[in-house]
Parts: sequence; C-alpha cells; structure tokens
Amino acid sequence: MTETSQLLQYADMQRTFYEREAKRDPEQQVVGCYDYHENVPYETNLLYLYGDIRKPIFTDFGNRTAFDFACGEGRMVRRMRRFFDKVDGADLSETMIDLARKRTPGSDFWVTDGMSTGAAPSAAYDFCYCTISMQHICVFETRDRILRDMCRILKPDGQITLQYLYSRAYPALPVTPVRSVSPDHSVQLFRNDKHHAKWFENKTDAVSTNSDCDVVIGPGELEIVYNYFRLYFELVDFWFYDISIGRDGLGQTRILPHIHPNSHISDEYHGTHFVYIHCAGKKYGG
Ligand SMILES: C[S@@+](CC[C@H](N)C(=O)[O-])C[C@H]1O[C@@H](n2cnc3c(N)ncnc32)[C@H](O)[C@@H]1O
Repeated sequence: MTETSQLLQYADMQRTFYEREAKRDPEQQVVGCYDYHENVPYETNLLYLYGDIRKPIFTDFGNRTAFDFACGEGRMVRRMRRFFDKVDGADLSETMIDLARKRTPGSDFWVTDGMSTGAAPSAAYDFCYCTISMQHICVFETRDRILRDMCRILKPDGQITLQYLYSRAYPALPVTPVRSVSPDHSVQLFRNDKHHAKWFENKTDAVSTNSDCDVVIGPGELEIVYNYFRLYFELVDFWFYDISIGRDGLGQTRILPHIHPNSHISDEYHGTHFVYIHCAGKKYGG
C-alpha cells in the first residue's frame, strides 16, 4: 500500500512541473505538439464506440453535461462544447485553469489536489473524459483515486471514455530499426523498459512527468486493465487509434506530412496507439 504522503509528494512534483511549464508555454510545453493534437479526431473516439459514427454512446448529446479531467487550458472543453449543453473541467495547474477560465467563458473549472476532480459537484455529469493526461500519471493509486472521484461526479447512468497510451510490444521497447539480415529475415533489438510504469506500479518517486514517466499499456496487460475497470463499471470496452504510421527517424523516411493524426512525433516515440477505455453502468459512487 502506498502511503498518502508518497501520493502527495508525487502530486507536488507534478504541480511544480506543470506550473513551471505552463508559465513558459502552455500550448507547446504542456499540451506538446499542439497542432498535432488539434488534428487528432478525439471527439470521434471519445463519443462513438470503436470510433464509429454509427455508434454514439448517447442517442442525444444536446441536453447533457460533460466533464474534462485534466483539461489544461481548455482545448478539448472548447471542442466538446460543440456536442454538449455544458462542459466543465479540472486540472492540478492553477495557471492552466486561469487560462481555461479566460479562454472558455460559460464553463466552470476547478483546481485539484492532483488526486481528484477537485470541487466538481457530485452526480452532476452524464459524461467524463480525459485526453493525453491520465497517461502521464505513473502512480496507480493516484489514478485509482481519480477514477473513484469520477464515479462520484457522474450521474448514476453516466459514462466515461479515458484515453491512455498503448505500445505494441510493451514492456519491450525498440532500440533499433528493423534491419534486413538475409533476403528472408529481419531483426530488431528491443530492451525491457524500466523507466515508465506498468499498470499497477506506483512510481511516486518519479522526478518528472508529461512523457518523462508515463503509464504504458502493452498487449499483455489488456486483461488486467479490463478487470480493473470492471471493478467500477458493468460495461468496459477498448478501442485503439494508430499513431505509429508513416513516422520518420531510425533510418526511415517520413511518408506522412509532419502534422498528421496518424503519425505522432518520430519513430523513437515508443507509443504506437491511443487506447480509449470506455465504461458505462457504474457500480461505485452513488
Ligand atoms: C498534456 S496536457 C493535456 C491537457 C488537455 N487534456 C488537452 O488534451 O489539451 C496534461 C494536463 O494534465 C494535467 N495533469 C497532469 N496530472 C494531473 C493530475 N494528477 N491531476 C490533475 N491534472 C493533471 C496537467 O496540469 C496538464 O494541464
């Protein structure tokens, strides 16, 4: 069991990091590759089962409310307001929340302690979502507290979709490109990752965040992740969005334009997919 003091220490580290970077450049330092993320069709993957527009998670979005966990300066709140009646958000960085308030009038925002949704009201939201933020929390118990608090703010029939990072061979990470060694054979060298966190790890002593120490899901962990979410929800489903296509680096030539939704950063980036974890029918939190 991780001590609360260790969780607070991790939250402090995250807060110090995000406050510093938010003051430097809230778009590029915090969101990172802002233009890239603005090109990714997050809405389709957050609001439609399997990212399929024939399968909306609600038959109507118009009279419903949504909550953006770790909303940053409000980028996805503004995008999601095109669907929902109201979208609110929370973040552990006060600087990001100040910006969100200025840039997104009409929404309510809260500063959090890094382990919750802050002072967001209970049983108030039809939908709770997260983009490029839960993946940066390398402490399982922090994410678990946040999920419980999401259950608190959800209406009884509320739903969630949370985006995490998936890496095709994790915990093995490629260190060389694929090399041809004979007309019929190729080799690639992998190393076992010790830097990022597996699902149940609690890396409270991480010294940095925002890609410097993430939680990464690999194929061998899908079942335990599924079983974990089933503790809180009757229905759990996953779908994947490929961000590994057409990158440059490691001796390959980039085949897609630099800002392209399927081609995140460079070949050296270990993440191969965004995995969307969708849950409905909450069993916890009233
Ligand atoms: C990469 S930015 C993404 C912002 C926004 N979700 C988006 O898609 O534009 C990560 C954000 O997560 C917030 N964050 C990271 N860890 C958090 C935590 N433990 N609790 C609340 N917010 C957190 C950061 O302050 C930062 O604004």
